[in-house]
Amino acid sequence: MRTQVVIIGGGPSGLLLGQLLHGIGVDAVVLERQTRAYVLGRIRAGVLEQGLVGLLEQAGVAGRMHAEGFVHDGTLIAHDNDMFRVDFAKHTGARVMVYGQTEVTRDLYDARAACGARTVFDVEDVRITGADSDAPEVSYTVAGTRHTVSCDFVAGCDGFHGVSRRSIPEETRREYEKVYPFGWLGILSQTPPVNDELIYANSPRGFALCSMRNANLSRYYIQCSMADRVENWSDDDFWTELKRRLPDQVLSQLHTGPSIEKSIAPLRSFVTEPMRWGRLFLCGDAAHIVPPTGAKGLNTAASDVHYLFEGLSAFYRDNDPEALDRYSERALARVWKAERFSWWFSTLMHRFPDQSPFDLRMQVAELDFLRSNDAAQRAMAENYVGLPY
Ligand code: APR
Ligand code: PHB
Repeated sequence: MRTQVVIIGGGPSGLLLGQLLHGIGVDAVVLERQTRAYVLGRIRAGVLEQGLVGLLEQAGVAGRMHAEGFVHDGTLIAHDNDMFRVDFAKHTGARVMVYGQTEVTRDLYDARAACGARTVFDVEDVRITGADSDAPEVSYTVAGTRHTVSCDFVAGCDGFHGVSRRSIPEETRREYEKVYPFGWLGILSQTPPVNDELIYANSPRGFALCSMRNANLSRYYIQCSMADRVENWSDDDFWTELKRRLPDQVLSQLHTGPSIEKSIAPLRSFVTEPMRWGRLFLCGDAAHIVPPTGAKGLNTAASDVHYLFEGLSAFYRDNDPEALDRYSERALARVWKAERFSWWFSTLMHRFPDQSPFDLRMQVAELDFLRSNDAAQRAMAENYVGLPY
């Protein structure tokens, strides 16, 4: 089999790139290890930057997002039993769209199926050969049969545990990692959200976040120990602890109910450089991971896709490789800013096991500065709504 671009990974990165390429007549096949249902069963963050909203519009898959998503002008920061608001629209003129990543992925799969583009599910043993040549190949097994696809380019959109990053020689890769000493215990409940906008809370008992998916589907998180296990937490335990971390003023609006999903996620910052090796380009979680505090995972995957799509478009339209040659440099410049913001916001909002009294006073001073200073709020708002591509 032959195609122009092999996309390894049918998550949001791979699907968005595939849809954009389809729009300009570039043939791509998506190879996905799991089934569509499995991919859509993943619960992930749901805050979309303006850049990602624009890419989904460009890909022609923004209809349901605009119909069902929530446009948020700001967010609330809770501390010391009080709250203050950071007004994105006032400081940046931009907003964010609250729309679940699962729904973004569903819309992309529906669009891909509707246009007849090829997606191979349940692939096993994916291997990339010749990435450092002009004739790369990707082989894989599906239903016991081995297949090989020759192509012009390989987009490694296969996430943190995928094969693409590891296909770049170890001696070529530079990897940077920070593991945070806590996790997030999250639940999904069919209850009305506690507030119209998100609430990020720094409490003496640890971080908490109040988010939502729609008018009757709420998403809550509380910081937990890395050693914690989901089975240690009944729904009642979760709600009791969440209430202890939120300001009194919102508790009367908190609707509790049975969890329809409950899970613990670790927090990690990770970047691999470079994001290109020959004809192999890494996108999204295959190249970098951020702690979820700033909801930058999907949004940074989106900017990678933007830069890679620009490069592939110029190559196929004008036979101009320049944008592809600059891909890694351009993508990483924005990735590192997203890493910084996610690290800053995680450090500001969580209680660390080894935090000294001085460290705690630094957190209080930073929160007080953010509360009272327009420049501080603008800096946060600009990062939250998304720095320019
Ligand atoms: N072969 C084929 N597919 C693979 C392989 C492989 N060897 N390894 C992994 N995959 C698939 C996974 O099953 C998954 O569906 O690649 C896809 C990668 O998707 P994501 O992990 O969602 O990564 P990405 O598309 O970059 O999206 C980034 O997802 O994890 C969140 O927080 C992250 O919001 C961010 C977004
Ligand atoms: C979510 O809705 O799951 C969510 C929102 C904002 C974050 C992280 C997760 O920063």
